[in-house]
Amino acid sequence: MNINIVQNVSDINCDILVVNMFEGEKTNSEIVNHYVIEKDNFEGKFSQTYLLQTYDKLPARKILVIGFGKKDEFNPDKLREAVAKSIKKAAQMKAKSVAFSLEGVNFDYSEQFTYGAKIADYSFDKYKSEKTDKVEDVYVAANKEIVDKAIIVVDSMNFARDLINESAQIVTPQYLADVAESLDIDVRIYEPDEIEKMGMGAYLAVAQGSKQQPRFIHMRYSCDNPVKKIAIIGKGITFDSGGMDLKPASSMLTMKDDMSGAACVLGVMKAIAALNPNVEVHGVIAACENMISGCAYKPGDILTAKNGKTIEVDNTDAEGRLTLADALCYANELGVDEIIDIATLTGACMVALGTQASGIMGNDEELVRNLINTAKHVGERFWELPLWDEYGDSLKSSFADMKNTGSRWGGASAAGVFLKNFVKDVKWAHIDIAGTAYFEKPQKEFIEGAAGAGVRTLVKYIAG
Ligand code: BES
Ligand code: MN
Ligand code: ZN
Repeated sequence: MNINIVQNVSDINCDILVVNMFEGEKTNSEIVNHYVIEKDNFEGKFSQTYLLQTYDKLPARKILVIGFGKKDEFNPDKLREAVAKSIKKAAQMKAKSVAFSLEGVNFDYSEQFTYGAKIADYSFDKYKSEKTDKVEDVYVAANKEIVDKAIIVVDSMNFARDLINESAQIVTPQYLADVAESLDIDVRIYEPDEIEKMGMGAYLAVAQGSKQQPRFIHMRYSCDNPVKKIAIIGKGITFDSGGMDLKPASSMLTMKDDMSGAACVLGVMKAIAALNPNVEVHGVIAACENMISGCAYKPGDILTAKNGKTIEVDNTDAEGRLTLADALCYANELGVDEIIDIATLTGACMVALGTQASGIMGNDEELVRNLINTAKHVGERFWELPLWDEYGDSLKSSFADMKNTGSRWGGASAAGVFLKNFVKDVKWAHIDIAGTAYFEKPQKEFIEGAAGAGVRTLVKYIAG
């Protein structure tokens, strides 16, 4: 989809002209005001649509009226959703060119317009004989500089969605390593013998049950005189069967998405390489599969993480935190100012927040606050969960420094407290995207499947 910036949208010869209408108010189009509002009593409630022919009275073949709802309740999130809905409607009608005449919006919509249009344009139909209809050209009056930047961000987001939607038979740890190497940044891939030399006993234990070898991926974007140094870590379980604590079939169905954190980090690094911010950025992924087999790790096993701390395996399905433990230790040694990890970590986070918000916690109030505000700005939702030490009480082990799981209650926070054991003297935030990474049914501007959670926020946070 091309987004074409134009001055006068109504002159464009296109399949569909989208006209917005605020509830109970007139639009800038005489035809719409007369036929749609006066004669047909269209109300313009949020997300309502009305289609009419123009019978050669306008350069556009049809007009799609999209309700924006009450003017005083309108905001950038609604704009993004309404634009997405218009694009989807237009695509279903096999329109190839769509112009947007947006009137009466009292904020700069360039960024959210771009996100809405390109999130809606996304499909994952490579394995389907019948392909999704697509709008090819969009015309809008907007700020070109903002649109161009937003395109880089949303393209990276859709790149992450592709990686997540692709099946685990394709997306193996080696595949993620190959993707990292295809990006325009420095990459170092560690193979099993090197991972062992680094002392990553927790991560290696998770990996040992699979025929797919683990790959530890370290990407680095550098620049002269960076204003700060950040490491982002993505959970990269390319398939989570649960291991010996095998998941029930219904819970396993979507577990190709357990590398959504890794996909986010890859997407962010791709965008960063294009945006060239004055920040040093490290992207770290401890990629592996969590499988059941004769060599799989077992409940009761005692593992030693890179920092020397020992962990008794209480549940092999709490594998993400074991891989992240070693990745956090690694990131700690990079001398960065901040570490942010992003992971489909706990079903408990999904129980708490549903698919509406990602959970966030951390050891630095300002970092957490900044990430929450950045998320809000780009149209994601982060919600802070507590990281009180007491959540760690149930992680006490009789045989090792800690267990990897404990009580079911407060599971998202307990996972956070577990991770905190591997963070030393650095600002750190942990983002749990278990509920937001993958939708089982369409939600707002998203189709079912991967949502590219975290990409917009982290790119914005790093590159502004
Ligand atoms: N990958 C899962 C978490 C998950 C669940 C992500 C649902 C997306 C949707 C994680 O590895 C896991 O299995 N967590 C366990 C932890 C438990 C054993 C303490 C869980 O949440 O059930
Ligand atoms: Mn698991
Ligand atoms: Zn998992």
